[in-house]
Amino acid sequence: MKRNRARSAIVTGASSGIGAALARQLAGQGVRVGLTARRLDRLEGLAESIRAAGGEAAVAPADAADRRATAGAIARLERELGPIDLLIANAGLGRSSPAVGFSAEVVEEVVRVNLIGAAAAIEGVLPGMLARGHGQIVGISSLAGFRGLPGSSAYCASKAGLSTLLEGLRPDLRRRGVLVTVVHPGFVRTPMTEASRHVQPWMMDADRAAAIILKGIARGRRRVDFPAPTLALMRLVRFLPGSVYDRLAPRVLST
Ligand SMILES: NC(=O)c1ccc[n+]([C@@H]2O[C@H](COP(=O)([O-])OP(=O)(O)OC[C@H]3O[C@@H](n4cnc5c(N)ncnc54)[C@H](OP(=O)(O)O)[C@@H]3O)[C@@H](O)[C@H]2O)c1
Repeated sequence: MKRNRARSAIVTGASSGIGAALARQLAGQGVRVGLTARRLDRLEGLAESIRAAGGEAAVAPADAADRRATAGAIARLERELGPIDLLIANAGLGRSSPAVGFSAEVVEEVVRVNLIGAAAAIEGVLPGMLARGHGQIVGISSLAGFRGLPGSSAYCASKAGLSTLLEGLRPDLRRRGVLVTVVHPGFVRTPMTEASRHVQPWMMDADRAAAIILKGIARGRRRVDFPAPTLALMRLVRFLPGSVYDRLAPRVLST
């Protein structure tokens, strides 16, 4: 794989799953990694294993739902690691949000972490990247953001929001030397998907997903959408007329 050009990166949601795999692989490529999430013990364990393998890592715990805490963690990591040239906003929360018993509180919780949390991390690194005229911002969205899926409307809305937010930032930032990459994975085997009882086709492991994501990042891609079969399915689903979708979705796409 092409070597990542970043020297220092921050990965949010690094205590588990895709984020931990991304941090480990980046460190293996010689990138200094800043790790953040809520579970400090998990972050410290990962940082220790990175250091034991000869890499460099710093940790700063924060709740992504708390903008001020996120800003503080990003600032601390940047002080410890030096200028950050890659942010991977990966922290995410999956919650079911059924139509019957609909709860605005659940929507708020999911949007706070998945969308506002990513925005807070971006706000933390962006001034430095713009001042240097160099950097890359990556958001881990989801193919679930392509359409509102029954039972997961809050999660889908948060991911559609994240993709749209990053797309809106991309043209202005690109002209100023900061690349924006939106990642839309399908199913990846992590604690998030292990918690689900539903059929999850074309599942891949977190290390494979992280390798695909890092390859796209190194190439400066605008989008990294994978795996191909889930992408094809979700593209089809996205363009189904509403009348067909309403009949099909509760039987086939309900989560
Ligand atoms: N697995 C999939 O199939 C899949 C598919 C598409 C997209 N994604 C996205 O990929 C990203 C990583 O998910 P994953 O599958 O690796 O799940 P995971 O293993 O559950 O990891 C989620 C990460 O997000 C962090 N996080 C959650 N809530 C947080 C909060 N309030 N504040 C700070 N950090 C928080 C968790 O850390 P703490 O609990 O320690 O805070 C953890 O490190 C998510 O954005 C997810 O939506 C996953």
